[in-house]
Amino acid sequence: MNPYRLLYRLGITPWERESVPHPVTELAERLSPPGRALDIGCGTGRDAVYLSQRGWTVTGVDAVPRALGAAVRRAQAAGAQVNWVLGDVTRLQTLSIGDGYRLIIESPPGGVGAARRHTRADRRPLRGGLGAGVKRT
Ligand SMILES: C[S@@+](CC[C@H](N)C(=O)[O-])C[C@H]1O[C@@H](n2cnc3c(N)ncnc32)[C@H](O)[C@@H]1O
Repeated sequence: MNPYRLLYRLGITPWERESVPHPVTELAERLSPPGRALDIGCGTGRDAVYLSQRGWTVTGVDAVPRALGAAVRRAQAAGAQVNWVLGDVTRLQTLSIGDGYRLIIESPPGGVGAARRHTRADRRPLRGGLGAGVKRT
């Protein structure tokens, strides 16, 4: 079982912050025009909603239904459109999330590997278009 399920259930979520991390805001502003963004381990959707509000077409993936439920509510409250996907990012290729992502944010431990595999698999559509990946713990 993914330990995050238990952590969310117990309300032990020290990664939850009010503000969007600086690398995300900085990249979102620097990469213009906005394109597709993928938030790997999106949690309760703070960054995905932020990006959506700035014109990005965002897909947020997380394995914990409780977290995604909160993300959906956050997006609804903000009037933001995000494609929320419940799934395991270590099996990203099976989730039918498409390609052409310009910005990939990833925060689960080991998530960077998932994104790297994904970008490698999608090298052609991403070439010249992948602006950045941001890894956070
Ligand atoms: C440290 S939290 C960060 C959440 C969010 N990005 C944030 O900054 O608030 C890591 C997130 O990754 C998710 N996660 C961990 N392993 C995962 C996996 N294998 N597949 C999908 N999501 C995963 C967890 O459920 C959790 O929401």
